[in-house]
Amino acid sequence: MKVYVLNGPNLGRLGTRQTDIYGLTSYADLAGMCVRVGKENGLDVEVRQTDAEHEMISWLHAAADERAAVVLNPAAWTHYSIAVRDACAMLNGPLIEVHLSNIHTREEFRHHSVVSAVATGVIAGLGVDGYRLALLHLATR
Ligand code: DQA
Repeated sequence: MKVYVLNGPNLGRLGTRQTDIYGLTSYADLAGMCVRVGKENGLDVEVRQTDAEHEMISWLHAAADERAAVVLNPAAWTHYSIAVRDACAMLNGPLIEVHLSNIHTREEFRHHSVVSAVATGVIAGLGVDGYRLALLHLATR
């Protein structure tokens, strides 16, 4: 199964970005872990990150056309991008929304996700392990 692991703005700076909240794992290490977990579980995993909303939306369109599964950390877009949500709503495969931090224990503006209502499932607060668990779920569903 093809799985796109898509990451939104500022996640390319993982490992140095607010490490008390997001942890010490670098984006490169996160991407490597996702590909490795995918291989071990029979998934064809492709990991991407962008700070540009139009690029994320075009990746979601392509995933919809391919009927691929998506693991998405929409980062800040989670909280306000109706355009990203609308693209997610068009997907034809499962969508797992992942957040490194528990957005519900943070600032109030992070408590609501505009994406969750169109996601298959949501994982928040488990750090990079959330990505691993999302992939294991996709491998077994
Ligand atoms: C995040 C949480 C968002 O509120 C934030 O804007 C991010 C990362 C997370 O993974 O915990 O950039 O999605």
